[in-house]
Amino acid sequence: MSVGAGDDFVHVLGVESSCDEMAASVVRGGREVLASVVHSQTEVHRPYGGVVPELASRDHVRFVSAVAERALAEAGIGAEDLDGVAVTAGPGLVGSLLVGLSFGKAVAFRLGIPLVGVHHLVGHLMSAELARPDLVPPYLGLVVSGGHTALYRIGEDGGTELLGETRDDAVGEAFDKVAVLLGLGFPGGPAVSRAAESGDDAAVDFPRPMRKRPGLDFSYSGLKTAVAIEVEKRGGREALSAQQLSDLAASFELAAVEALVFRTRKAMREHKLASVAVVGGVAANRRLREEMARVGAREGFEAIFPPASLCTDNAAMIAAAGARMLHRGQRDGLSMNAFSRAPVAAVVR
Ligand code: KG4
Ligand code: ZN
Repeated sequence: MSVGAGDDFVHVLGVESSCDEMAASVVRGGREVLASVVHSQTEVHRPYGGVVPELASRDHVRFVSAVAERALAEAGIGAEDLDGVAVTAGPGLVGSLLVGLSFGKAVAFRLGIPLVGVHHLVGHLMSAELARPDLVPPYLGLVVSGGHTALYRIGEDGGTELLGETRDDAVGEAFDKVAVLLGLGFPGGPAVSRAAESGDDAAVDFPRPMRKRPGLDFSYSGLKTAVAIEVEKRGGREALSAQQLSDLAASFELAAVEALVFRTRKAMREHKLASVAVVGGVAANRRLREEMARVGAREGFEAIFPPASLCTDNAAMIAAAGARMLHRGQRDGLSMNAFSRAPVAAVVR
């Protein structure tokens, strides 16, 4: 184990199991991803059209050791070379979280190295700095995932201030629910996005949620309902032609994306920031990337999108966030518990 300012945690093992991905990663010096292994459960949940929590945790139990061993092998190090363990403690499905958490505790205990619990969203936010090591706060963080839609100001000290969040559904959840309404299968976000490619985004003028409201909050349940009404108007899902399906997908995608871009532009102006980091699973969406970059170029701000592999759930972001926390002296004991919900500010110390 090496000691020294800044690089006292050379090799950090990250473990992430908050939902339906079991992931492990080794990050060197807090910034360099030596290995990032993600075991997806898509096939386990596909027949049900959504994540079944019980099945997710059972699958995690089966694969956690193998995924971590593969991460070590790909990083070219042995377990004895690890200097710390970072594990997602929440928010997420508690049964899923507990698998990664117990594994992380066991590794840290066995090796006698420090352990730290990481907030999943702090991990997502960290993915921007992992992708762009020259990114220096202050900047805006837009977290868009299956469970969250929120805007944060990342301050000079790395602290986070919540500026706005969804009042109901998350944007990724809206993509997933619209995929079900349109019969596009699971996982929903990429399926809607694919269908939208051959559609006319002006076919249906869906409402732009919250556009006329003050503040920086989001709302996605109304948009989802609007899609359901349009499907019914056309005689239900079975009656839709392939073109109608694509048109609905494209029109929905544009409305969902425009609402994100509109709020982001407002936050950038109000807080006089120069960069926005867009993170979380929905940041993989092509339309969002294009629209955000277009408006950013017009308004004079830079939109940073990590590569898709760092947008969807992964353990590299957890290891990187954990390395920083460990460096600051943060530690968690073996009594640490998983949590299903908690604001970011409550855990960024
Ligand atoms: O960050 P993530 O992997 O897990 C959570 O923490 O929730 O995000 C998953 C979400 C899902 O709702 C999924 O449908 C959405 O991200 N997603 C997308 C795309 N890829 C994933 N949504 C729209 N377009 C995509 N290409
Ligand atoms: Zn996530």
